[in-house]
Amino acid sequence: MPGQQPLAGLEGILREYQGRRGVLLEVFHRVQDAYGYVPPEAIEPIARALRMHAPTVYGTLTFYTEFRTAAPPRVLVNMCLGPTCHLRGAEAIRRILERRLQLDENGRSPDGAVGVHVVQCAGHCHVAPLAYLNGQVRGRLAMSDVVALAEEARFLAGGASA
Ligand code: FES
Repeated sequence: MPGQQPLAGLEGILREYQGRRGVLLEVFHRVQDAYGYVPPEAIEPIARALRMHAPTVYGTLTFYTEFRTAAPPRVLVNMCLGPTCHLRGAEAIRRILERRLQLDENGRSPDGAVGVHVVQCAGHCHVAPLAYLNGQVRGRLAMSDVVALAEEARFLAGGASA
């Protein structure tokens, strides 16, 4: 796109795939490994390198949930809303946590450092309801734990208390 800075290292990645077919997902993985996500400004260079239409590249990228189109937050709270967690009040806990962290419609804190995502059961129902804080289980959550959970997330993100 005009006016955008080229992404450092992207040309080197794309050179390996120049003109090849059936490698789009592999390219997404390489780009995501390099940048932590697939930046929107990478779409057109990828399309040119693989001789594809940019809307097709973008459509494929957004079809697969394993690819991120925005930089990941420094701290990620994955809130389980699987059946057991749901029955034990996880939805209400999530709502309060989101309010406490002042999340926007994309589930990000105002500085973008903390994100809250909803996940499904990953087999820790014995400590439901639970959240994963950067992958670490925080189980048997109660409403009274939300402030501490939010503060820990903010602390890990390097910010002030929530
Ligand atoms: S439903 Fe949440 S861990 Fe199983």
